[in-house]
Amino acid sequence: MGYPYQQIASKALKTMVLQKNERIFPYLPETYWYHPAKLKQMLDEYEFVFIKPDKGGGGGGAIRIKKWSDYEIVCHTLYSRKVLASSEVAGWIEKRLKPGKRYIMQQGIRLMKVQGRPFDLRIHMQKVGKEWTFSGICAKLAAPGKIVTNYCKGGQPYEAYKALLEISSYNQKRAKEIFVELYYLSKEIAKTLNSRFTGLKELGIDAGIDEQLRIWIFEVNTRPNFKMFRDLPSLHMYRRIKNIRYHRV
Ligand SMILES: Nc1ncnc2c1ncn2[C@@H]1O[C@H](COP(=O)(O)OP(=O)(O)O)[C@@H](O)[C@H]1O
Ligand SMILES: [Mg+2]
Repeated sequence: MGYPYQQIASKALKTMVLQKNERIFPYLPETYWYHPAKLKQMLDEYEFVFIKPDKGGGGGGAIRIKKWSDYEIVCHTLYSRKVLASSEVAGWIEKRLKPGKRYIMQQGIRLMKVQGRPFDLRIHMQKVGKEWTFSGICAKLAAPGKIVTNYCKGGQPYEAYKALLEISSYNQKRAKEIFVELYYLSKEIAKTLNSRFTGLKELGIDAGIDEQLRIWIFEVNTRPNFKMFRDLPSLHMYRRIKNIRYHRV
């Protein structure tokens, strides 16, 4: 069955809409259209930079560029890693960009780890009547050595609250605070995107947490897959999402 609701493919467009909300703005990594001169500037400011296709998902085509020394850069794709001289980087990247596709670049966020693996969170939001429901949250642990956490690239579903407890050194109050912050942020994101794109019904928000326990929003999917919820020890979120999707009122 085709997906019956409005979809917005462009990450740049969704980011621009979200940037206009001052409550959401601080959670967005700095984002620009890919441009080699701007990339150079960003590498002076940030530890690393992510380049991703504006349209397209599943972690496909993501590139991570990181300063290695004053004159060397480490370039990482999903399947390869190479150390290059600064002057070779733009050429190396351009060889990997697909013709006809636009690319964005984003301030890199150093993700917190669980079991030694970087992770981020997927939050599933669904519109029921006029209200947006927070219907599921799931951590995704990156497959060993991978630069993305996507389920289809070997990312492992993991209980979100357990991950939050682990990164806050089992401080339950702190873990709960992060959860509550994610909850209200997700509602605000859903309302903000929905006010501009009125046909949206479901959202899959990808949120990372850095070493200062700050939350960062990487992207918001408008056609989110929810298969990963099936791999969690409890199926209650999977069942809720499925029920709402197929029996929505
Ligand atoms: N700015 C970033 N800093 C660190 N990791 C990132 C960044 N952007 C993306 N990632 C990683 O790559 C994954 C895929 O990126 P995302 O923006 O979700 O695009 P896609 O549409 O391919 O899923 C994220 O889930 C996250 O693990
Ligand atoms: Mg994603």
